Formats: sequence, C-alpha cells, structure tokens
Amino acid sequence: MPNRIRTLKARRILNSRGDYTIETTIQTANGFFAGSAPKGGSKGNLEAKELPAITAVRKVNLRIAPHLVKRALPHQSKLDARLLELDGTRYKSRLGGNSLLSVSIAGCKANAAAKNKKLYQYIAQLADNKKLVLPVPFLNILNGGKHAGMKNDIQEAMIVPKKFKSFSAALGAGTAVFHALRKILHQKWGASATLVGNEGGFVPQKAKTIEQRLELLENAVEQAGFKKKVFFAIDSAATQFYSAKKKQYVLGKKKFSKVKLVEYYARLAKSFPLVSIEDGLAENDWNGWEALTQKMGKKLQIVGDDLLVSNPAYIRMAAQKKACNYLLLKPNQIGTVSESIEASQLALKSKWMVMVSHRSGETNDSFIADLAVGLGVGQCKFGAPDRGERIAKYNRLLQIESELGKKARFGI
Ligand code: PGA
Ligand code: ZN
Repeated sequence: MPNRIRTLKARRILNSRGDYTIETTIQTANGFFAGSAPKGGSKGNLEAKELPAITAVRKVNLRIAPHLVKRALPHQSKLDARLLELDGTRYKSRLGGNSLLSVSIAGCKANAAAKNKKLYQYIAQLADNKKLVLPVPFLNILNGGKHAGMKNDIQEAMIVPKKFKSFSAALGAGTAVFHALRKILHQKWGASATLVGNEGGFVPQKAKTIEQRLELLENAVEQAGFKKKVFFAIDSAATQFYSAKKKQYVLGKKKFSKVKLVEYYARLAKSFPLVSIEDGLAENDWNGWEALTQKMGKKLQIVGDDLLVSNPAYIRMAAQKKACNYLLLKPNQIGTVSESIEASQLALKSKWMVMVSHRSGETNDSFIADLAVGLGVGQCKFGAPDRGERIAKYNRLLQIESELGKKARFGI
C-alpha cells in the first residue's frame, strides 16, 4: 500500500515580525506534517520570488494540492522536481519560493516519518552524508543595520563559541556571554540599551560602530570567563550600505572605496578575534569579493549570503572566480529542500564550507536545525538565545544532541 497524501492544505500564520507567512500541512497515514517559510529583511536580489502570503496560500491550495492529494507521497527528490515543474520559472515567480518551500518541508517531514526515521537522519540519507554533526552556533547578540532600524551600518556582530567539546557546552557559553553583555549594557546605558532587534540581539543606540560593538563583546566574553574560547564574526550585509551610483560604501559618516573597505576589514581582523566575514561587499561587487577572498580567505571564512542566494548557479560562478569560501545556506532563498541539499553538496565539492541559516523574520519551525545536523556541515546561524523563534532551533539541537548521546559530534 503506498503512503498516500490524504490532505494538503496551506494557511497563513504569523512570523516573528508579526507579518503573515505561509504554512502547509500534509496529512498521511502517519499523521500531520507542517512546513513554513521564513522571511528575510535584507534580502538578496536574486532570491526565489516570495509571493504575498495570501497569494502563496492560494497557489498551494489551488495549483499544487490537486496534483498531489490522493496520490502516493513522492520521494523527496520527486516531490521537489514536481514542484519545480509545476512552477516552471527560473526564480519561482509563478508559484512563489515561499509556497514551494512550505510544501517541500512538510513533504520532507512526512517522508521521514514514512521511513520511520528522524528528520535529520532522513536528510542525511538524502544528502548521502554519513556524519551527523551538531553545528557551532554563530549567535548574533548585537543587532544592527536593517534588523535594528539603522542605516549605513554593519548588520550583525556575532559570537562564535568554537572551542568546546559539545554543542550544549558551546550554547551554554554563548548564553553566558549574552547575559554578561546584557549586564554590561545595563550598567553603562540603562535598560533601554538592552532592548533587542529582529534576531534577538541587543541594540544599544550609543554603540554605533562595529569597533565599539566588538569591544563590548570582548568585555562580555572576558566577564563570562571564556577568553580564547569564544570568537567573533560579522555579517556586514554590505549591499545595504553600498551606493552603486557613487561606487562607494558608507558606514556611519565614513566613505570607503572597495579597496579601502577590504583594508578596513583586514585591520578589524587584526584588532579582534574575528573568524568570519559575511557579505563584506555588495552582492554585485564581484571584484570586491575576489579582492577580499584573496587578501583574507586563507585566515577567515568569507561567507556568501546575498552574493550566492543559496543558488547552485551562483555558487558555481563564485567558486570559479574564487569570490568567497563559505556558503550561507538559507532554504527559502532557493525554494526546495532538494535544491538546498544540492547547494550544500556543490559548495562542499568546491572545497568550501557551509553554514545553515535562519532569516530575520522566522517561524517556530525548527526544520533548519535538523537540516544542519543532517547535512553535517558543522556551523549554524540562528540568532541570539532569547526569542522563541530562535530558541525553537537551539532547543531542537539540544534534543538531537541528547538523542544521539555519545555519537553526537560537534563542529567542524
Ligand atoms: P535577512 O538577514 O534574513 O533579513 O535577509 C539575515 C542575513 O543577512 O544573514
Ligand atoms: Zn547575511
């Protein structure tokens, strides 16, 4: 007896910014399986097209469901191929990347249950990966840029608890640094400095530059007692402070050419224990990316987010140009689970590494936690440890760690 899809139904739910997004539930003999789409704030230009939630819901219920309901649940690769076929466009503009992703994730959960596997095990099987790895969390504990209502600003200052034996120890250290930082901010500037942004990190209005923010992180790490064990990372989201017309980057009141910006990053990396720079240059400044990778790629992770939009075509291009050495993997940038796996495999084949990432507008779906473990890539970026939609992912990782017990590996 094939495992049939009994019902497939989409609806609107709210995301962490209070905007509508789409959730789809698939019902099979094994139960109900839901998948939802997150929503970016500082999005890449070439991401899969996101339709308004109400339109996306209509597309799933009227254009996708009739092709799948009352039929056997297809294997994940077949399901995703069918979704792409039904859409038929390069950037998922007909049915919407958000519609496709919600169905694809729900289908992946239903498939895992049909095979009596944990979600991360099923993903590992799809990715042909033998090593289940709990990821090093990159915690964005000082929010800036678009996520904090600031202009001409570096978007994320993250802590990276790397030198730990287990995920839970790393998360514990990250959380301790987060609490130490809150205390420091409160003492310095009062309670208003401890208000948080879209990804749960603090937004102290007086700490305007990345140098000031990294200094605050240094103090917090020291107070928490984790010096030399916790490192730093930034996501510039530089497209947001690049003027294509003037060909210049603007941070606060300072203006930079691409060459000067690369030099600036090099100085920053000398002053602070920085391990990773994401979107250091604007998404179409390919020469700038090449210069940054050439100068710093041996020592640092040069992570492509808006540059690559999790799209195998751009990953190929960037590998050829040596424009970065790390893929930030966001399933909703590309639209299906199978394409996300393909993007990760392609990056690894290009001798890069991969970090699985949330979006600034999230749901409580913890799928990406299973994705990170199943792909075995060793790093994740799920925000600060204080908002429910971020905690859902961290708690899922804690759950997986305890399920795997002694078999749980950590980091890369
Ligand atoms: P977004 O930001 O989800 O708002 O696009 C996250 C990031 O830039 O990494
Ligand atoms: Zn980014």
